[in-house]
Amino acid sequence: MVDKKCSVLEKISTMKAIVIEHFGTPDAFKETDLTILPVAPNQVLIRVAATSVNPVDTKIRQGAVADIAPDFPAILHGDVAGVIEAVGDRVTNFQVGDEVYGCAGGVKGMGGALAEYMLADAELVAHKPKSLTMAEASALPLVSITAWEGLIDRAKVQSDQKVLIYGSTGGVGHIGVQLAKWAGAKVYATVSTDEKKAIALSLGADVTINYRQTPIEEFVAEHTDGNGFDVVFDTVGNDNLQNAFKAAKLNGTVVSTVSLSKQDLTLLHAKGLTLHLVFMLIPMLFNIDRSYHGKILTKLADLVDKGQVRPLIDSQSFTFAEVAAAHAHAESGTAVGKVVLTRETL
Ligand SMILES: NC(=O)c1ccc[n+]([C@@H]2O[C@H](COP(=O)([O-])OP(=O)(O)OC[C@H]3O[C@@H](n4cnc5c(N)ncnc54)[C@H](OP(=O)(O)O)[C@@H]3O)[C@@H](O)[C@H]2O)c1
Repeated sequence: MVDKKCSVLEKISTMKAIVIEHFGTPDAFKETDLTILPVAPNQVLIRVAATSVNPVDTKIRQGAVADIAPDFPAILHGDVAGVIEAVGDRVTNFQVGDEVYGCAGGVKGMGGALAEYMLADAELVAHKPKSLTMAEASALPLVSITAWEGLIDRAKVQSDQKVLIYGSTGGVGHIGVQLAKWAGAKVYATVSTDEKKAIALSLGADVTINYRQTPIEEFVAEHTDGNGFDVVFDTVGNDNLQNAFKAAKLNGTVVSTVSLSKQDLTLLHAKGLTLHLVFMLIPMLFNIDRSYHGKILTKLADLVDKGQVRPLIDSQSFTFAEVAAAHAHAESGTAVGKVVLTRETL
């Protein structure tokens, strides 16, 4: 009989992990052996199968956001897909053997997924979509929670609204396209190439706009009679915020994932816009509302299994041992969609 709470910890006490001991280039990663900490009552122990790279992982590795980095030796990466090996005493919704996914660490106070095992707050994880591989599932959590909080919770995208998604084939943007479509909106997607145009259309975008070729005034005139979009989702941020303000309609809504810059808010005022900023790490960093992330991922898994959302995965995939190359590729700006890494053995 399988012991539903039984722990691998009775058999082993250490694990292989890939860590950084200082901030730096992708070469900073090194393999080491670490003790597996006891499973707290609210936690699950996940045998990691796959993870994916997000910009926050490369920024943490570089030392660009040192205040949110885990202590050294630091195990990076929030996104995880894997199998539950042990459950804490207070956890009731998971059992040993369950396949799960989540964004559950790799930031201050929480170990990440670049290891054989990851201890995670059970509230941050959900049962993985059945129709996806582990690698595919690991591409989804961080970007999907971000897009959900931006478009569904903050902008409250409605049926028949015109929604402009900047960065439509990027990590957050490709989920944004699909969630806005699911919410019933008419989706306009910015792209930079014909290849990305085809991808954005395949994700469900109604119209694509090559932002390098078409000035904002021109596409706002063509697609909205010069009135502007009901909702603009800006996944590029900083200087692109002004473009988002220009593209939005009077009294419209702009949602951004990046505003680490000084901005002139004149246009925001003159157009009566509402600006929302999403920072999806807050529940992990401050231990508030974590269960909401698990709930988003449960709903998302259902949408995935119904064929309404799918991950866009870059053509180059990596093993954990190739994490340096994976980070270099993600930072090169040439990846399309998510860069995923699978652990060699399960
Ligand atoms: N605040 C949060 O909670 C949160 C969560 C997730 C991500 N983020 C941040 O959001 C940003 C996007 O993350 P991501 O994972 O989606 O990154 P990503 O996968 O690199 O995607 C970025 C996208 O932006 C497009 N882009 C780049 N420059 C552009 C420009 N000038 N105009 C229009 N599009 C442009 C790129 O493709 P093309 O140029 O080819 O179209 C690409 O598709 C990052 O800065 C990340 O740190 C924040």
